[in-house]
Amino acid sequence: MSDKAENVPEHIAIIMDGNGRWAKERGLPRVQGHRAGAESVREAVAACSELGVKYLTLYAFSSENWNRPKAEVDALMKLLERFLKDKTPEILSKNVRLQAIGRIDLLPESCRKQLNKSIESSAENDGLTLILALSYGGREEIIDGVKSVLRAVQDGHIDEAMITPELFDSHLYTRYFPDPDLMIRTSGEMRISNFLLWQLSYSEFYVTRKNWPDFRRNDLEEAIAEYNRRHRRYGKL
Ligand code: FPP
Repeated sequence: MSDKAENVPEHIAIIMDGNGRWAKERGLPRVQGHRAGAESVREAVAACSELGVKYLTLYAFSSENWNRPKAEVDALMKLLERFLKDKTPEILSKNVRLQAIGRIDLLPESCRKQLNKSIESSAENDGLTLILALSYGGREEIIDGVKSVLRAVQDGHIDEAMITPELFDSHLYTRYFPDPDLMIRTSGEMRISNFLLWQLSYSEFYVTRKNWPDFRRNDLEEAIAEYNRRHRRYGKL
């Protein structure tokens, strides 16, 4: 392991942005940017797995992305399905456990089936947990969490006095995972864009100007190195 990665974050979350701009800069259709982005996903998963990161959450499709032109949405769904079909053997060989968060029920049936198949086949793995945020929105997750807490109160399982941040955590899609230590965003935008609104409260943010299709292993290592520098200065321990 390189000394850059001496203190590897347990959980890295990534907003993979800039696929469209990457394609536009090359005079290519947007979908080509997403295809190139899928290769960056493969590399990021392999790198995180090798570096000993325990959780990697990727913002692959937001609630708002449904509003894109149908052709782009369809292409993204097909790309996701194909990626899962093609890469599941690699995921399994790397001891990666696949999980998903978001309104998965809204995905096209064939995509959802492939996702569930990949999740089930990797369920016993105990290396990196790869969490795909799909049809995901932070506000929607919080609303679903509020509804779930409300049901628990109405059913008499808990009373109002028991509602704490920890209790609320246990009603979120992410209840099985720790909060991200490091959040990376590509393409230079300084926004959260409805990603893990609750969970990013104490995460370190790292923004690179590179578009997602250009994001390579050395960029990930640089983000981790920067996380280490900040941690040494501002860490709570
Ligand atoms: C943002 O770029 C990216 C997305 C909306 C989709 C992310 C999808 C992938 C990286 C490929 C497939 C994913 C997996 C998990 C295999 P953008 O289109 O918003 O770029 P722009 O802001 O430059 O237009």
